[in-house]
Amino acid sequence: MVEAGWLDIHFQASRKEYERILHASGIREGWRVLDAGAGSGSYLPLLSEIVGPGGEIVAIDLAEENVAAMKELVAAGRCACPVEVVQGSVLELPFADGGFDAIWCANTVQYFQQPLLATLLGGLRRVLKPGGLLAVKEFDNVGLHFGPFDPALRWHLLEALRDSPLLLGAGALFTVDLPAHLRAAGFQEIRFESHVGDFRHPLSPVETEFLASALQLYASLAEQVGLPARERDEWRSKIGDPDSGRYILRSPDFYFREVHGLATGIAPG
Ligand SMILES: C[S@@+](CC[C@H](N)C(=O)[O-])C[C@H]1O[C@@H](n2cnc3c(N)ncnc32)[C@H](O)[C@@H]1O
Repeated sequence: MVEAGWLDIHFQASRKEYERILHASGIREGWRVLDAGAGSGSYLPLLSEIVGPGGEIVAIDLAEENVAAMKELVAAGRCACPVEVVQGSVLELPFADGGFDAIWCANTVQYFQQPLLATLLGGLRRVLKPGGLLAVKEFDNVGLHFGPFDPALRWHLLEALRDSPLLLGAGALFTVDLPAHLRAAGFQEIRFESHVGDFRHPLSPVETEFLASALQLYASLAEQVGLPARERDEWRSKIGDPDSGRYILRSPDFYFREVHGLATGIAPG
């Protein structure tokens, strides 16, 4: 889920929702913004339009492949402001104290459980100016719902995965708790809102590609944990096998509801 191609296809399929969330973050024209865990740079063009030519973006990511993709995007002239791309860890930000007006951190805190989450948020607070804005956007795995499929089967899968190293991004089970984590890290004026994206037929080609790969991911996880045989059969025939007559993506009643949380807070003065 952190590989550049998958990130890009998810962004394209959810673009309308993702852009609405970024606009709701409160980031303003002329600001110097850090994109923390920037992935392949999907947000950079829109973020650069929001800060405008007088603003500036620094994008940091750990993965070499994503850093290369971002450098290409910037070199292709797709950003409306200067963008510096840095390879490094958001847990050890290589930046001076108080240098950013805002931080945009999307789909990245899900990879950090306590105590690393506190380390991450403390570091983000350090590099913000007093009064600076932190905006955390996160996928809410509890709000996800797809079908026609018995939701209890997904709950059983999530329960089995909760403490498993298999579920990259297990923090996405706790997205609604982000305000408490921001408060504990010293942020003030904390806000939280949920944004819902619905996918139903007719689907565009990129939506179909994204949804098929997302279903495939859940089906492969269902194979790897100790679910009862009857439940594994349901996962295989309805979610994992595009050739099965029961594959839900081909059903006229197919639905996939994605929920995202946006938590914002202000660094203390
Ligand atoms: C799901 S992606 C989100 C990318 C982008 N923000 C987006 O929403 O499209 C999570 C990103 O976090 C990055 N990441 C994970 N651990 C990191 C760390 N310790 N420091 C910096 N980036 C990290 C991964 O390389 C990946 O690009």
